[in-house]
Amino acid sequence: MPATVVVGTQWGDEGKGKFTDLVAKEMHLVVRYQGGHNAGHTIVVDGEHFALQLVPSGILYDHIVPVIGNGVVVDPRVLLAELDMLDRKGVDTSRLRISGNAHLILPYHQEIDKVTERRLGKNKIGTTKRGIGPAYADKASRVGLRVQDLLDPKIFREKLEVVLKEKNAILAKVYNQLPLDPAGIAEEYLDVCRPRLESMIGDTVGLVHDALDAGQHVLLEGAQATFLDLDHGTYPYVTSSNPVAGGACVGAGIGPRYIDRVIGIAKAYVTRVGAGPFPTELHDETGDLLVDRGGEFGTNTGRRRRTGWFDAVMLRHAVRLNSLSEVALTKLDVLDTLDTVKVCVAYELEGERYRHLPYHQSVMHHVTPVYEELPGWKRDLSSATERTHLPKPALAYIAFLEEQIGVPIRLVGVGPGREQFLHFAA
Ligand code: IMP
Repeated sequence: MPATVVVGTQWGDEGKGKFTDLVAKEMHLVVRYQGGHNAGHTIVVDGEHFALQLVPSGILYDHIVPVIGNGVVVDPRVLLAELDMLDRKGVDTSRLRISGNAHLILPYHQEIDKVTERRLGKNKIGTTKRGIGPAYADKASRVGLRVQDLLDPKIFREKLEVVLKEKNAILAKVYNQLPLDPAGIAEEYLDVCRPRLESMIGDTVGLVHDALDAGQHVLLEGAQATFLDLDHGTYPYVTSSNPVAGGACVGAGIGPRYIDRVIGIAKAYVTRVGAGPFPTELHDETGDLLVDRGGEFGTNTGRRRRTGWFDAVMLRHAVRLNSLSEVALTKLDVLDTLDTVKVCVAYELEGERYRHLPYHQSVMHHVTPVYEELPGWKRDLSSATERTHLPKPALAYIAFLEEQIGVPIRLVGVGPGREQFLHFAA
């Protein structure tokens, strides 16, 4: 059976959680394929908010096996807190499966993330300080500890001992920090976390392939987004993994031929947290209005998000990078009160016009957006349940975006609730 990928097309926070949850209904397995608890997916079910960081959105359906794939970096302490939260809300968490090959985030990763950001000063990335980058760096340097190491305390302690010697030397000598105690870490990870997670750890590649072979539907859930991708994003202002659809193959352990549907999630405007170029950024009252109406504060870190107009140049690039088959447009209702809405259709710099993303980062930093201005709809869309409920200017806005990006918009979100979306039939 084929697999579907859900991927963010901007700088994250597009509302992937809600749409993954929506698509998940028809799935058997939902696999997170990269990132860690830098993600924050909010899903509202019957008025109740679920803020998920590590657990795949599919957990909220009884028939789904949620899987943390090998491409994810896992802080088991955070995972346990999240499982506790879900248990308290009556969600059955025993179905969760965690890849033994996923890498662990350890306390030194978080320390290094924090001190590195401090050292970078005005050049900092604006990371979530969750240890994501340092954990992936250790994975690439082949000194990472993996989830499967929790199952073998002797190996865990040995590896920790070796790696912590180096990390402590760096923390003490470069950053003037106190060393971390290996015994304390081992106790927390092996004595507290391991017993609770042990039964969930296993061979998720086998699990995914058994499901595919049995004709089941698999959803591959991305975190962060296309322009935070380590290879394709606005480097160095990116995360340390590959959120693009190609990353789903690596991070879940399947070949590309299984994927036949790639849904790109795009907000009806653009937001970004952390530093980095943002051509359509608004520094005026419209930007503030988008923050207020859109509730644009990080689910995870509480940081105020930067806001700007929809950027079709970025989306065209996201279509290419991910082979998007369709787009789900989120938060259209946030634009309800505006007299006019703008869409960036190209960039300009020194007389040159760019319809596609300039490859050189310096160009990206200095371009001026070329806008088309469309009439606003000045109507509350939050109760619309069908396409026919949308006023003409809102339909025109959606049609204009489709024309600009060259991919159909199949779903439109008009509020945070599970039911607040409209189907745009093929
Ligand atoms: P890191 O992933 O914590 O290393 O942060 C790197 C960059 O990615 C920073 O600009 C973060 O703000 C951004 N980032 C990481 N995760 C998310 C997310 O889930 N949504 C939006 N931005 C994110």
